[in-house]
Amino acid sequence: MAKSSSRGTRTRKKKADEVPKEMVPVYIMGKRYFVPAASTIMGALEYAGYQIKRGAGCREGFCGACATVYRTPKSYKIQYGLACQTVVEPDMYLAQLPFFPALKKVYDIEKLKPSTEVLSAIYPEINRCVACNTCTKACPQELEVMDYIQAAIRGDIEKVAHLSFDCIMCGLCAARCPAEIVHYNVGILARRLYGKYLAKLGEYLPARLKEIEEGKFDEEMKEIMSLSREKLEKRYYERDLDFQIT
Ligand code: FES
Repeated sequence: MAKSSSRGTRTRKKKADEVPKEMVPVYIMGKRYFVPAASTIMGALEYAGYQIKRGAGCREGFCGACATVYRTPKSYKIQYGLACQTVVEPDMYLAQLPFFPALKKVYDIEKLKPSTEVLSAIYPEINRCVACNTCTKACPQELEVMDYIQAAIRGDIEKVAHLSFDCIMCGLCAARCPAEIVHYNVGILARRLYGKYLAKLGEYLPARLKEIEEGKFDEEMKEIMSLSREKLEKRYYERDLDFQIT
């Protein structure tokens, strides 16, 4: 994250009584700025003049790139969230975690077996889980993270895959874990194993693959590729979902 414009300097110079009511003071990397009250943390950083080069992606709460830490004045607690989703509060102290240096093992999924030992064999640190539930409390997706780590210890790949299905890999669980477990990498390994070896092949899938190979959707794809961002967003939000995730 780099400071890139003078806008933050201008806001910083305002005195409290000159500041319109719709602005709130926040501290970014220890410096005080006034930002619009309805800003997300990401919006506040940018309003203050920080150019986010790493640590932003979808800006919609899906990609997990924008993990952030903050503290509010009356609390000693460090809090965690997604910068693109968390709205600022007066006198918040803000910082971003553009990358969390978590352990990620390298494995060949073709050579693994979906056994009850495989998750513990690749990520043995899961057995250090002290069931403190800090990971669950840190999760901006409100996933039952500790429950899926417990399932991983038992070797229940299917349960880990289902409980971690909505993980966006932001890394906040791992940032908080006193046992230094990398929950999201355990989750994605379980989902890979489940998808490759345990999930039943959807009945529609072979037929749909054949249609794709025969070019049935080529024209539609060409049309989508030619749309402007606005039209594409409209199409995306108005789309019909013809499946349900359970
Ligand atoms: S930028 Fe993608 S989740 Fe925040």
